[in-house]
Amino acid sequence: MGTFTWPSEQEFDRVRKAVVATSGCDEGDVRVAVSPYRICPLGAHIDHQGGTVSAMTINRGILLGFVPSGDSKVLLQSAQFAGEVRFRIDEIKSPRYLVDLKNHVKSDEECGWGNYARGALYALQAGGKHLHQGIIGYICGSEGLDSSGLSSSAAVGIAYLLAFESANNISVSPIDNIELDRLIENGYLGLKNGILDQSAILLSNYGCLTCINCKTKDYTLIKHPQWHGGQEIKRSKPFKILLAFSGLKHALTSKPGYNSRVAECREAARILLSSSGNGSLEPLLCNVLPDVYEAYKGELEANLARRAEHYFSENNRVLEGLKAWGSGNLEDFGKLISSSGLSSIKNYECGCEPLIQLYKILLRAPGVFGARFSGAGFRGCCLAFVAPELAAEAASYVRKEYEKVQPQLASQLNGDAAVLFCEAWGSAHVV
Ligand code: GLA
Repeated sequence: MGTFTWPSEQEFDRVRKAVVATSGCDEGDVRVAVSPYRICPLGAHIDHQGGTVSAMTINRGILLGFVPSGDSKVLLQSAQFAGEVRFRIDEIKSPRYLVDLKNHVKSDEECGWGNYARGALYALQAGGKHLHQGIIGYICGSEGLDSSGLSSSAAVGIAYLLAFESANNISVSPIDNIELDRLIENGYLGLKNGILDQSAILLSNYGCLTCINCKTKDYTLIKHPQWHGGQEIKRSKPFKILLAFSGLKHALTSKPGYNSRVAECREAARILLSSSGNGSLEPLLCNVLPDVYEAYKGELEANLARRAEHYFSENNRVLEGLKAWGSGNLEDFGKLISSSGLSSIKNYECGCEPLIQLYKILLRAPGVFGARFSGAGFRGCCLAFVAPELAAEAASYVRKEYEKVQPQLASQLNGDAAVLFCEAWGSAHVV
């Protein structure tokens, strides 16, 4: 049922051989940046407001095989996207969204996939890191999972950061890499997101829920009490993570939905802060105390009131959820995840019809503790925590029911691949 140790030897082999073919180096010289995808069970859409979020990585993600290029050249190929990416480490200076977009139309680089590598270089330069050489690399994501709401973009950005740092013998702490990845996304790509994705990818550990306070950047890892060992799959685990795919794919940066919701949250914060005499504080909902929110929420227009309600209720769900998780109470943890899903739909008003249908199907599926959209909810998949003994039944129920409501999208999903099981994993690193 799709549970396996990731990355497999074959996956490592594939990227190493591809780097050898392009660079002519020895296979033993190829290093691999391993950067997992992530899920966020609780704490959706509050990271950009300085809220507290929870996340974990899964045993799927990005492999970037590379060798130092020996000079300033960067040469990259991708298993998923067409076109070669070539640039020099001294030529990236300005954010992509300020660059004339016509450059990309002329390029043979499918969907501008090289922009994450350029963004990583931009972030390292902006962060004061001095690079003396580029890389020759080959990047490959777990099959069928790009654009799935599992944060493949942060996983890609981090893989490039780790590769450039390794090739240049620069040691950077996970906390500093969180900030560098933020520069790629906010600074270079123009997405106004928070630090949830990269924090999960850089800090997570097997069987743990990673809890991040996005205002202070403090984090804790909370191990599930019934989880034993690392990533080996022989031991029985207390839950399975089910991913149910909608078949919808498009990049977050191409839709105004994400950034416009961030702007609405900031506007709600601005009104609440100025009504309560705190107008000098940065307009982020984390700067509004809960009792100030209660006292002044009547000042907000209906849509802004819903965004603020999502923020404050989601923060509470995260805190409740951490307690439930830490005591091994998956039933309560699951109920909070499902309420988080509902608040994303009703208050944050994100998601789309196929994802909402999938969410509702998952709530009825056997053995499901709780479910919600993964990621921003504008595409991709829903996640659910499931009792291991009912996992197979849950999967076939979801496949069957989704096909009934979305026959067209379901037919693009390739049978079994519509539902995937995965395990909690560790953090990104270079092998
Ligand atoms: C995307 C963003 C994150 C976060 C989630 C929603 O993945 O990149 O910063 O806001 O959506 O929780």
